[in-house]
Amino acid sequence: MTTLIWDDGMKVGNAVMDADHQAFVELLAVAARADDAEFPALLAEIATHLREHLAREEELMRQHGFPPYPIHKHEHDRVRLELEGIEKRLAAGNLMLARGYVREALPDWFVAHKNTMDSATAGWIKAQGG
Ligand SMILES: [Fe+2]
Ligand SMILES: [Fe+2]
Repeated sequence: MTTLIWDDGMKVGNAVMDADHQAFVELLAVAARADDAEFPALLAEIATHLREHLAREEELMRQHGFPPYPIHKHEHDRVRLELEGIEKRLAAGNLMLARGYVREALPDWFVAHKNTMDSATAGWIKAQGG
């Protein structure tokens, strides 16, 4: 089980992205601790947050002309689809699958994605003076 705990070492150096990342890490921890009855509402919160978070990053990338925008956007689209699939499976009663996704797959994805595409994006924005 992966429980991420936010600390300043996780920052990518962009205030908007760091605020979203902190909120995301905190939502994952709350959902991981929740009981089964509480979990569906928390997955819905995570999904809403993540869709807004990805959209905000894409807006930043467009504003600052991030050259590999299509690659980063494509990865976001993959996660959107995956998330939609999990929401459907949860709605169909597959609680264990959704819980596993939030406990393992999402934290692992987040760390890898933040350390690569998100941190490259933040570095580019900074280099543009943003
Ligand atoms: Fe992000
Ligand atoms: Fe991203």
